[in-house]
Amino acid sequence: MSDDPANPPVPSGTTRGELAMLRLSGTHSSLDVASQGAHVCNWQPDGGEPVLFMSPKSHFLKGKAIRGGVPVIFPWFGKREDDPTAPQHGFGRIAGWKRTRGMVDQRGAAVAEFQLEDNDSTRKSWPFSFAAKLSVEGHTRLHITLEIKNTDSKPFTFGAGLHSYFCVSDIERIKILGLEDTHYIDQVAANEVRKQANEAITFDGELDRIYFDTAATCVILDPGKKRRIVIAKSGSKSTVVWNPWAGKAGSMADLGADNWRGMVCVETTNAGPDSITLAPLATHRLETTITVERIDSA
Ligand code: BG6
Repeated sequence: MSDDPANPPVPSGTTRGELAMLRLSGTHSSLDVASQGAHVCNWQPDGGEPVLFMSPKSHFLKGKAIRGGVPVIFPWFGKREDDPTAPQHGFGRIAGWKRTRGMVDQRGAAVAEFQLEDNDSTRKSWPFSFAAKLSVEGHTRLHITLEIKNTDSKPFTFGAGLHSYFCVSDIERIKILGLEDTHYIDQVAANEVRKQANEAITFDGELDRIYFDTAATCVILDPGKKRRIVIAKSGSKSTVVWNPWAGKAGSMADLGADNWRGMVCVETTNAGPDSITLAPLATHRLETTITVERIDSA
């Protein structure tokens, strides 16, 4: 059971704040998923610490994004340039998804599945028919798949992501490996395109980058927590790395000035130039697999 104050234990099929929440306890880990947004809020290996960061100040309110866990980005990444009133990162993370599965299977894995189809409200901001399915399995690893099917009669282009927030000991002491020599759009430098040197990412200020054209596995190396978090992916060509640092975090009511140091986002996405165009009846599958490995020292 969780002893993290940001993730109090949630019995299966209850609520947190205003939101319906599923809690499953598998043989190797426990999993909490909110139906709003098909949002994985907690994944905690047995006997280990939480892997996903959840802000102690997060809202759990209808129609409001949750700050932490794994928000589902769909069908656009970031702001919509043609519509400033459209919700940042799309409607996927604040929509009510239908739970179609929630159980511990014969292997002891916690498995859940959620579905979302277009409706009057989604068609107002994005005029296409689609069928989305989010499948999650919490076991010795966390595996999340987002499938998008085009059920329209015309092609559509979309952005998507599994916007995973991870707990870290201290943002200034971690490194992210896997994106060496990769180009990125620097969202804190007027979207300038830059190239990562042949070295790991380290943090000494606000960092908000869309690494594009990369299918690489990333590793968060965290000597303070004596662990490596390995984030493998498929069907994804972009990886977004984000930490707001003190200034921006202080202006975010659901994060606050104290919590940014213990989090980092490494997001499995298709954003910007890696947006996906799907023909009618075609399906795209975006997957991430997260594993935790112990390390003895830095
Ligand atoms: C990241 C973006 O994916 O999400 C950042 O690159 C953004 O620019 C961050 O600030 C958080 O977004 P939001 O909408 O959850 O506050």
